[in-house]
Amino acid sequence: MLEIKNLHVEIDGKKILNGLNLTVKAGEVAAIMGPNGSGKSTLSYVISGKEDYTVTEGEILLDGVNILEMEPHERAHAGLFLAFQYPLEIPGVATMTFLKAALNAQAKSRGEDELSPGEFMKKVREAAGKLGINPDMLKRPLNVGFSGGEKKRMEILQMALLGPKMAILDETDSGLDIDALRIVAEGVNAHRDPNHAFLVITHYQRLLDHIRPDTVHVMAKGQIVRTGGPEIALELEERGYAEYLGNAA
Ligand SMILES: Nc1ncnc2c1ncn2[C@@H]1O[C@H](COP(=O)(O)OP(=O)(O)OP(=O)(O)O)[C@@H](O)[C@H]1O
Ligand SMILES: [Mg+2]
Repeated sequence: MLEIKNLHVEIDGKKILNGLNLTVKAGEVAAIMGPNGSGKSTLSYVISGKEDYTVTEGEILLDGVNILEMEPHERAHAGLFLAFQYPLEIPGVATMTFLKAALNAQAKSRGEDELSPGEFMKKVREAAGKLGINPDMLKRPLNVGFSGGEKKRMEILQMALLGPKMAILDETDSGLDIDALRIVAEGVNAHRDPNHAFLVITHYQRLLDHIRPDTVHVMAKGQIVRTGGPEIALELEERGYAEYLGNAA
């Protein structure tokens, strides 16, 4: 599904990703763990198409298509979704309006009819209810004044509504209370099937107890330096990253 080959990325002349290779297969839940500043968020931004980053080498293929040549909205329509580590506040745009615009754009790109206002409200209310999001929150400007955990739940609401083929969750577990953590994990587990894949960036083994990943990748200094199964997460919890920081190129 997602294939990243020899990716080199810099920002303002500073190299951040140094020949990163990563494959996530359809149906797979892959986790990335790694020290602060190793380039995890940078990787997620580059995949989703945020400006500012210069790809100097390498490619990112989604189902065999090089997405580096696509605009961010085209990537979204191709089925990519990123839940931000730091969700943006959008003053002046009601959350409901934002969600509607996102769903309508998706329907349009698929050549489908837009949902009727009634269908839309029903769909959003149901999904919000499952995530413990109060309907009153949906009337407020997107993320403005939302608590840390509320912002993260909102990211998962967007994911649940859009049903992306490939979802990247960048530290969506940070700042969540225990109930919300379970809800996020259930959201991922509910969409686990051969047509969907997830890339879950996290610092904590705790999330991976609820979302049992198929693979765990360790990232250090802009590269994937180790790939294995869930046992890696347990090992990191005990030993930390020292051995990777010493050895990585
Ligand atoms: N605009 C920028 N200018 C200069 N350096 C930057 C810029 N953006 C990111 N970096 C640097 O790139 C490196 C990787 O940052 P990134 O946010 O990808 O790390 P991360 O692995 O997500 O860390 P964390 O675990 O703390 O979220 C950091 O050293 C950061 O300071
Ligand atoms: Mg980060």
